[in-house]
Amino acid sequence: MIRIRPMTEADLDAVLAIEQACFPRAWTRQHFLSELAAPHGTPVVAEQDGRVAGYLCLSVIMDEAEILDVAVDPALQRSGIGAALLVWACDYARKQRAQVLRLEVRASSKPAISLYERFGFVRSGLRKAYYEHGIDALLLDKKLNEEDVDAV
Ligand SMILES: CC(C)(COP(=O)(O)OP(=O)(O)OC[C@H]1O[C@@H](n2cnc3c(N)ncnc32)[C@H](O)[C@@H]1OP(=O)(O)O)[C@@H](O)C(=O)NCCC(=O)NCCS
Repeated sequence: MIRIRPMTEADLDAVLAIEQACFPRAWTRQHFLSELAAPHGTPVVAEQDGRVAGYLCLSVIMDEAEILDVAVDPALQRSGIGAALLVWACDYARKQRAQVLRLEVRASSKPAISLYERFGFVRSGLRKAYYEHGIDALLLDKKLNEEDVDAV
């Protein structure tokens, strides 16, 4: 069973191991500590069988929410954990009365883009060569309407 709960400092070794396995320019411990302390930040972990399987950092400011970071342990990918984190993010952002959920993704991250498309995110912008090796950043948005039904 997947359980979404607030991230704590005690989770950071596990979170950093996943982060480093998933991203060429990984967030540092300090990035996550800043998220834990941020007034608008809501970092959560997805726990499976008592261990950290993934995490998501969400920020909600006024009526805009943004996913700042999300990843799943490579050994546990494609088993619904990323979708569970996105369902949580959409629900939480709606409860905070956000109208839109935004994120930035590497144009090369096909699994992530598939996941976001499945949740109804649409492209709202492009930052050319924003990431390492000249990889573009896609800016994606999802409107958070009451009638919205998430795909998963
Ligand atoms: C993107 C990521 C978080 C998805 O997590 P996940 O737990 O593997 O995703 P799920 O198992 O919940 O998949 C849900 C849906 O996303 C899509 N998806 C996920 N992985 C996919 C892949 N490798 N190829 C194609 N579609 C994929 C599918 O539509 C999938 O539904 P399905 O399995 O029923 O076909 C994970 O691949 C990851 O951590 N990637 C590295 C870090 C990253 O790129 N983060 C995003 C930064 S913006």
